[in-house]
Amino acid sequence: AEVIVVGSREAAGALVAEAIERLVTGRPDAVLGLATGDTPLPVYRALAERVAVGLDLSAVRGFALDEYVGIPVTHPESYHSVIDREVVRPLRLNPASVHVPDGRPLGIETAGERYEDAILAAGGVDLQILGVGTDGHIGFNEPGSSFASLTRVKTLTKQTREDNARFFDSVDDVPIHSITQGLGTILRARRLVLLAFGAAKAHAVAAAVEGPLTASVPASAIQLHPRATVVVDEEAASMLT
Ligand code: F6R
Repeated sequence: AEVIVVGSREAAGALVAEAIERLVTGRPDAVLGLATGDTPLPVYRALAERVAVGLDLSAVRGFALDEYVGIPVTHPESYHSVIDREVVRPLRLNPASVHVPDGRPLGIETAGERYEDAILAAGGVDLQILGVGTDGHIGFNEPGSSFASLTRVKTLTKQTREDNARFFDSVDDVPIHSITQGLGTILRARRLVLLAFGAAKAHAVAAAVEGPLTASVPASAIQLHPRATVVVDEEAASMLT
């Protein structure tokens, strides 16, 4: 992967927003792969600033990486809620064009296949935004995930539940399961942009970029992608050689 070290999260946000603006200028109905969590927020903020001065994203389509299983869609921390609050509204996307995996219990057995079909019907993802977990996950593909995996239900690791406890009242309130695009799904996107900030991500970044290709570090799958860019701050880059 191409690695770009930037001075700040804001600089990373501006860089990726610029790439997205270029994409959308050439293709107004481009398909974006959307991540949740803290990492992509500078990108969404930078895009929102561009929208405020005239960038039109109303024809853009979006597919979120993942969703929790076991909390209602209306829960403020469901990824349906988060994507609506942090992406759809500030970027003035058309809510009907933005998809999040269906984590509701009814029909969960077929939800993965339905999501894959929807991505294919949209013509695939043009640019996939990724964060990385401290355990090396992308999406919620925890260590051990197959590189060929498609959207399916996965169990979150203890580490991930502890990392995400900040969004809930306590770690016990963090759902145990998720439905996530697979590594195979992610690798089909035409372009990958993985962002990481802070020292807590340094190990995962080094393992993803320079370590062996291994299911133990799901983010190492980006090494298989012909067009993957990694945008990191100095701290997240600190274990790269
Ligand atoms: C979010 C996702 C996760 C996060 C990762 C990092 O949709 O799929 O892989 O990107 O857990 O989370 P943050 O950015 O909160 O550190």
